[in-house]
Amino acid sequence: MKFNPFIAFFVFVLLPQQKFVQVVADLDSDKQALLEFANGVPHVKKLNWNLATPVCTSWVGITCNTNGTDVIAVRLPGVGLYGTIPSNTIGKLKALKVLSLRSNNINGSLPSDIPSIPSLQCLFLQHNNLSSKFPVTFSPRLRIVDFSYNSISGTIPNVDLPSVRVLNFSYNNLSGSIPSSFKRFPSSFIGNPLLCGSEPLKPCSESVVSPSPSPLTDFPSPKTGSQNQHATSKSKLGVGSIIAIVVGGLAFVFLLLAVIFISCLKRKHSGSNGMLKSKISQNDKPNDFGSGVQEAEKNKLFFFEGCSYNFDLEDLLKASAEVLGKGSYGTTYKAALEEGTQVVVKRLKEVAVGKKEFEQQMEVVNR
Ligand SMILES: *[C@@H]1O[C@H](CO)[C@@H](O)[C@H](O)[C@H]1NC(C)=O
Ligand SMILES: *[C@@H]1O[C@H](CO)[C@@H](O)[C@H](O)[C@H]1NC(C)=O
Ligand SMILES: *[C@@H]1O[C@H](CO)[C@@H](O)[C@H](O)[C@H]1NC(C)=O
Ligand SMILES: *[C@@H]1O[C@H](CO)[C@@H](O)[C@H](O)[C@H]1NC(C)=O
Ligand SMILES: *[C@@H]1O[C@H](CO)[C@@H](O)[C@H](O)[C@H]1NC(C)=O
Repeated sequence: MKFNPFIAFFVFVLLPQQKFVQVVADLDSDKQALLEFANGVPHVKKLNWNLATPVCTSWVGITCNTNGTDVIAVRLPGVGLYGTIPSNTIGKLKALKVLSLRSNNINGSLPSDIPSIPSLQCLFLQHNNLSSKFPVTFSPRLRIVDFSYNSISGTIPNVDLPSVRVLNFSYNNLSGSIPSSFKRFPSSFIGNPLLCGSEPLKPCSESVVSPSPSPLTDFPSPKTGSQNQHATSKSKLGVGSIIAIVVGGLAFVFLLLAVIFISCLKRKHSGSNGMLKSKISQNDKPNDFGSGVQEAEKNKLFFFEGCSYNFDLEDLLKASAEVLGKGSYGTTYKAALEEGTQVVVKRLKEVAVGKKEFEQQMEVVNR
């Protein structure tokens, strides 16, 4: 809404509610953008979004700032969104800080106006079917970016993201090598079979560039020039080197046995500290944190909305837990994580549903 400066001056002088007019205008444009998004992206679950109701207080998944002047968070995990997000919808929310559209079925390209919303801090798009290229323009405020489990393809541009703390592009279809600006995110790109780089990924060598990786490249082989050379050197192994390998192997086994033996002795003789450590490492907490743990490991579920501390089972096992109550489905714990974050954990007794269904149910509980 544009004001003629002359009229605006009069409104300002004559009506003390001028600010109110501006506020409504901001919120109206946010409302419009959101409705365009809801109309443009089909969804399985109904959203109660309509023009007649107030955005900030009654629309599902929407959070406004305390003033009620702008939409600052849109969280629609697992509502069955499918199809492609049009540009000029969510990308128009000027004050958006958190966008979570994870666990839906969004496909096609992500409009470039979304990751570049200037105020955006957290972007959760994991578990969709996005097939964009790697975004080039990111908001300078972005702290958490999760695109894992999509179909993002192409190479990674060398963009600098100084404010990003957590980045995840695991399980996509990226290719090429990791540019230098992303070297500080070593475990953010696992599960991209065409991508090469340092440790969790396969090393970048000439043979990796071709689309059919040879099994040899799975190991960081010590500077083999070409595979031909590798093969010939293998056939030339003399008796001397075989003996050396056998002796070396035996020495290694002996050393390993010695280490195990010594550590067993130590454990027997050490005090309560040692006991505690070994207990935790065996996933065998005193209370009833024990037997279900391996099961739970498979369904690593964490709700994790907003921009807060990311945690997983490891953290929970390390945390000090306090029983809050026991219900018919299981026990509820309060756990304090290391960073001072508190989480509530509910351990379910017997859940006979698939992982996908379980996650969908949890998305419902989450809201
Ligand atoms: C509320 O609005 C005022 C002015 O409109 C602004 O200065 C302040 O930062 C806003 N507060 C929040 C929490 O957005
Ligand atoms: C996205 O999915 C819809 C069906 O859900 C399909 O009609 C459309 O072709 C898909 N678009 C792309 C780009 O894959
Ligand atoms: C993702 O989209 C591709 C086509 O673009 C389709 O073949 C595939 O089944 C989709 N995956 C899911 C989980 O919907
Ligand atoms: C992955 O990307 C490559 C191109 O980089 C493409 O040829 C291939 O079809 C893609 N695979 C999938 C499953 O989308
Ligand atoms: C990214 O997500 C994958 C799958 O959820 C996980 O295994 C990996 O540790 C994550 N990486 C980072 C850096 O969070």
